[in-house]
Amino acid sequence: DKGEFRHYMLKEIYEQPKVIKATMEGRITDRRVLEQALGTGANELLADVRHVQIIACGTSYHAGMVARYWIEELAGIACSVEVASEYRYRKHVIQPDTLFLCISQSGETADTLAALRQAKQAGFRAALAICNVPGSSLVRESDLVIMTHAGPEIGVASTKAFTTQLVSLLIFTLALARHNGLSEEREADIVTALHQLPGQIDDALALDGKIAELSRAFIDKNHSLFLGRGAMYPVAMEGALKLKEISYIHAEAYPAGELKHGPLALVDSEMPVVTVAPNNELLEKLKSNLEEVRARGGELFVFADGDAELKEQPGIHVMQIPGVHSITAPIVYTLPLQLLSYHVAVLKGTDVDQPRNLAKSVTVE
Ligand code: F6R
Repeated sequence: DKGEFRHYMLKEIYEQPKVIKATMEGRITDRRVLEQALGTGANELLADVRHVQIIACGTSYHAGMVARYWIEELAGIACSVEVASEYRYRKHVIQPDTLFLCISQSGETADTLAALRQAKQAGFRAALAICNVPGSSLVRESDLVIMTHAGPEIGVASTKAFTTQLVSLLIFTLALARHNGLSEEREADIVTALHQLPGQIDDALALDGKIAELSRAFIDKNHSLFLGRGAMYPVAMEGALKLKEISYIHAEAYPAGELKHGPLALVDSEMPVVTVAPNNELLEKLKSNLEEVRARGGELFVFADGDAELKEQPGIHVMQIPGVHSITAPIVYTLPLQLLSYHVAVLKGTDVDQPRNLAKSVTVE
């Protein structure tokens, strides 16, 4: 039931404060991740992990890409991320003490399951699943499971499953990092940031009206670029995927630093450029990238921290998302990109919940 909402996708976007709370419930205290957060026996399995291999498809793959930044930064453990359809058809080397981590909303994606079954034969320390569907094949075939409590996701374009995957991955990262020297203080700082998420997501949802207005700039465009740096690069990829899927506008994500290595040649007044820019360390670099775009007439849509001192001016639209912790920023900054693609699709009159050529669960190759 869509209730008061015009589409399931919009309803699911708006459910995110609630389902994120549900995903954290019983897994964190005020300041810590609970010992039992990943189930009994998890700590023994995590203690000796030296490498994490993440496998997923589509949106779930983007969640894995964000997690790689967290795992290497907070746990200091090497992490590789690959799409299942590539991994399963190449010769791969499994490092000793590898944790094999599959991310899937449905738990029935054929390529992800095939990659897991294949890796089992090659041997790894343990298989962890992050999944939204209890009793799914992925859940049944894994040693450890973190359920995302997103509830049924009806819209084909994944929204709340993605952000609850990110929350689960961050909790997992903290549990892993504890075995690898993460201080109690740092853990408390990040857990505090997790508790702030539902409120910050409400604030991001409050931008809805403004985003709906800005989305008009996209309806007559055929192409768009999405830029981000660091963990915001996969957020840009996810934003681009959403726009492609439901508005049928070609959208490509680039790490902002790659702009001058090629894609800048595409930028002109017909190429809107969307940027997510919360990270203070990378902000200065990003600002010069934005100037390069502006100098070529590209219209900019920037989602930035209030401190970024980016000013609204002709050709540069700035939407501020104040005070988000740099670790949880990928979760919060996903929201405005979901809303942007939604409004562009509504204006274009596409079938938002059932985009052409796509299925919700890809159970065949
Ligand atoms: C995009 C989308 C797909 C899925 C992908 C994996 O909005 O929904 O890209 O993310 O098909 O599906 P799961 O997570 O069920 O394995």
